[in-house]
Amino acid sequence: MTTHGFDARRFKAIERSGFNRIAARYAQGAAMRSALADALIAAAGLAPGQRVLDLASGPGLLAREVARRVQPEGWVLASDIAEGMLAEGRGRAQDELPPAICARLSYAAADGEQLCLCDASVDRVLAGLALFMFPHPERALRECHRVLRPGGRIALSVWGARATVPLISHAQDCITRLLPQPRVARPSVFRFGDPGALETALSAAGFARIHVAPVRWTSHFVDADAYWQAFLDLAGGAAESLAQLPAATQAQLRTAIAHDLQAHHDPQHGGYSMTSQALVATARV
Ligand SMILES: C[S@@+](CC[C@H](N)C(=O)[O-])C[C@H]1O[C@@H](n2cnc3c(N)ncnc32)[C@H](O)[C@@H]1O
Repeated sequence: MTTHGFDARRFKAIERSGFNRIAARYAQGAAMRSALADALIAAAGLAPGQRVLDLASGPGLLAREVARRVQPEGWVLASDIAEGMLAEGRGRAQDELPPAICARLSYAAADGEQLCLCDASVDRVLAGLALFMFPHPERALRECHRVLRPGGRIALSVWGARATVPLISHAQDCITRLLPQPRVARPSVFRFGDPGALETALSAAGFARIHVAPVRWTSHFVDADAYWQAFLDLAGGAAESLAQLPAATQAQLRTAIAHDLQAHHDPQHGGYSMTSQALVATARV
């Protein structure tokens, strides 16, 4: 497998299509990662009156908590390449939040590598599980640095090292074993799992006072299908590619997943449990 021939535009189109496909299910499944969302919100240092960008916002679950904290004068822009994710978030917000909070939320379908904001126009940038999605993460970080005002802060989360995220690596191992290798490799979602790599990327984009900390949480799955569905509800590009496979191949994958999951059997609660690790980073302009 090679990264030669990698087509960033095609990659983004597949991610956009995949995350549009899974928007509702992603929003439902996000509760499983509430510990990570809470850690990111706490790290952001939010206060009333701030202007905030929630980059690669998905269904805007971080953005709505930001809106609550920056009211009554502040605002938050939820931005994502997948317009279906934003529409899902907007619909949920309108159904579930008071109008005064909804009024603090704006939405923009846009590529995070080319931000639709002026220089020095926001106080905070949040980017939850996003940096590894970009074919050119250095561009996205430079854009974040550009739109933050002097003294502004970025708070972001990324997946930890591969061995610490069975939630994803377990499914990937089965896929690698059963399916032909793709001709061109996707960028790894674990490429910032080493705190040093994350610090280097933030520093190269001009950020200072960089701090990186691990966050761990445990997920429980009643059966192997629940695990597989949780993986598909999280990974837009993979969901998009796997949905194109014949039903028999998809069934083979489910069987292999069930077999391999035995290592995570939870004798106390039944089903399967696994602990995942992410990194939360903050840095200043
Ligand atoms: C794993 S989800 C994270 C969503 C949300 N931030 C969270 O913490 O749950 C990754 C998001 O990145 C978005 N995304 C992927 N590539 C992008 C790009 N080039 N520009 C902006 N958003 C992108 C996807 O559409 C998806 O909503």
